Amino acid sequence: MKYTQEINKRKTFAIISHPDAGKTTLTEKFLLFGGAIQTAGAVKSNKIKKHATSDFMEIERQRGISVATSVMTFEYKNHLVNLLDTPGHRDFAEDTYRTLTAVDSVVLVIDSVNGVEEQTRRLMGVISMRKTPVMVFINKLDRDGKNRFDLLEEIEKELSIQLHPMTWPINSGKDFKGVYDLEKESLVLFTPGSKAEDVLEISDLADARLNKKIGEKDAAVLAEDVELLRGVYGNLPVEDYLKGDVAPVFFGSAVNNFGVKEMLDTFIRIAPTPRPRETTSKIVAPDDEKFSGFIFKIHANLDPKHRDRIAFLRVCSGKFERNTYYHHVRLNKDVRFSNPYSFLARQKDVIEEAFPGDVVGLFDTGNFKIGDTLTEGDNFYFTGIPSFSPEIFKEVINKDPMKTKQLEKGLIQLTDEGVAQLFTQFGGTKKIIGCVGELQFEVIQYRLLQEYGASVQLNSLPFYKACWLTSNNDKKLLDFSRFKQANIGEDKDGNMIYLAQSEWFLNTEITNNPDIQFHFTSEIHK
Ligand code: G4P
Repeated sequence: MKYTQEINKRKTFAIISHPDAGKTTLTEKFLLFGGAIQTAGAVKSNKIKKHATSDFMEIERQRGISVATSVMTFEYKNHLVNLLDTPGHRDFAEDTYRTLTAVDSVVLVIDSVNGVEEQTRRLMGVISMRKTPVMVFINKLDRDGKNRFDLLEEIEKELSIQLHPMTWPINSGKDFKGVYDLEKESLVLFTPGSKAEDVLEISDLADARLNKKIGEKDAAVLAEDVELLRGVYGNLPVEDYLKGDVAPVFFGSAVNNFGVKEMLDTFIRIAPTPRPRETTSKIVAPDDEKFSGFIFKIHANLDPKHRDRIAFLRVCSGKFERNTYYHHVRLNKDVRFSNPYSFLARQKDVIEEAFPGDVVGLFDTGNFKIGDTLTEGDNFYFTGIPSFSPEIFKEVINKDPMKTKQLEKGLIQLTDEGVAQLFTQFGGTKKIIGCVGELQFEVIQYRLLQEYGASVQLNSLPFYKACWLTSNNDKKLLDFSRFKQANIGEDKDGNMIYLAQSEWFLNTEITNNPDIQFHFTSEIHK
């Protein structure tokens, strides 16, 4: 195979967490290990401050900076790691969901004090749907957290995933003494503020050095815990991790750079290299010689002085080359890129070539929408890139009838970019936009006016979710849509949706209509 060496070198992943669990801090530590940054704090300044503001221009300014860190590439132990950033701000959750379609694995950060939180649950829903391999980092052990056994149970239960502890903590909070590395059979001692880790190989937990280092009482508890863990878990079944069935777990404190190296080393050793991907016609292996890739994110700059759009392409097979014509499947035309760029070293560098697992930034003048596929001539689409049910809905009221055409165009283009989803109410022309966060509505209103000259008012609608409907029984579906007219609409591609007022209504309809399937996601390409 032509590019095996390049492919086997690459690991493309994302770090995800509920805001404040420590994603940014952990990202920074990874970059420090990879030599991609030199000082602590470098990533932090690019972060969208979650409490900061509802002023979207300010957020956009920060987002603009964050384009440069959308993909952070670093080398570690002869591997090339592509770390895809996901926005911490809840209102950009859909961006995060999409980014998860472009990675081969994820690291999930959980705050040991708060346990599983709302955003973790949502993100894990997407991850388990795709069977993406997960590694878990339980953070903030330097604070008094939950009992570690209870925490594992909570994570397993809430996220429906089997865990496999790789390290085990000795206390937490001010009594936190470090972790025991179950695989390497070594004790890693915690000294706050210390740069180098104090590691002691101890395979026999009756070793007298243990008492000396952590005290008799903690040594006895650790020996008991480790015996129990060894009995229950044994060695990590790497195959099951790669299938997304088992998640290795590490304990540590990101801010103290403690327990991070243990995870990074394991990550480099076992995390998947670029994986094969399904398309509408076949499975594309990364070592297929012909190039293919898909667009998973589009970033439009709101600054009127720099009105550029960047489409993010994930390379799935073959080699992507600058100035080479590729087939844009949806538009059925060949396109080439003279300034594709990579994100290496956090600068926009023009690149000559890219390999599977890499993400390339393409300047776009409106040719792309989320889910578009580029190939070397083949006509297929990558699948597994869904739209997710929005959670806030507003009706679009056109304030300037002279600009109806512009408004239509603007709505189509903005929703193609994935800023929001557009629905039309059943039998009517009422246009509804659905988003995950309030902020998106401000963005839409602003952009419709600035870019398309269309002035709109957005009126809140009392819906809480949109579900895509399918059924083998056409008549039942038609009857349902007639009966529930006020709650029925269609998406941009003409797929029928049900707009539910509340969870109760939704569950009632699901129970009352066993012949109809209610889907919370919809595949862009089936
Ligand atoms: P996020 O990206 O997931 O939103 O979280 P982030 O890394 O920004 O961390 C959130 C807060 O938690 C930060 O504090 C950070 O310093 C702190 N933190 C991260 N890891 C640990 C840890 O291991 N132990 C403890 N005790 N705290 C940790 P902040 O006050 O919000 O920000 P800053 O002023 O420290 O920058």
